[in-house]
Amino acid sequence: MEKVREILLAHLERAYAPYSGFPVVALVEAEGEMFLGVNVENASFPLSQCAERNAVAAMVLAGKRRIDRVHVYSPRGPIPPCGGCRQVLFEFGGAGAEVVLHGPEGYRVHRLGELLPWGFRLGQKDP
Ligand code: THU
Repeated sequence: MEKVREILLAHLERAYAPYSGFPVVALVEAEGEMFLGVNVENASFPLSQCAERNAVAAMVLAGKRRIDRVHVYSPRGPIPPCGGCRQVLFEFGGAGAEVVLHGPEGYRVHRLGELLPWGFRLGQKDP
């Protein structure tokens, strides 16, 4: 975990968060590889993109589709991923994916199913 925390911290300055002043780094562990994302904001605020979704995009581009674990670091953390990102992570990780939420003082570990109890899948009616 220390190595992952080092990587997260090393990429914090890559976040582009001039409007919120709230940088976030995400690291997705998928099929034995790691993929990073940072939040990228925009002057047209709704076009801003969360760190988690950018990490998922990097994973998909590399040909991986199975999220085992995702780490999220914020200097004000641990912070919970937003609802939209929970659903995007659910697409590739399901309820069993581990979600590790990091802050300067430490981290806490959750399962995605705790944070998103009934993720949406096409054609699935029951939790
Ligand atoms: N943000 C993330 O990147 N991930 C999260 O899980 C929560 C929020 C970003 C979006 C925006 O750039 C900034 O944090 C403040 O909302």
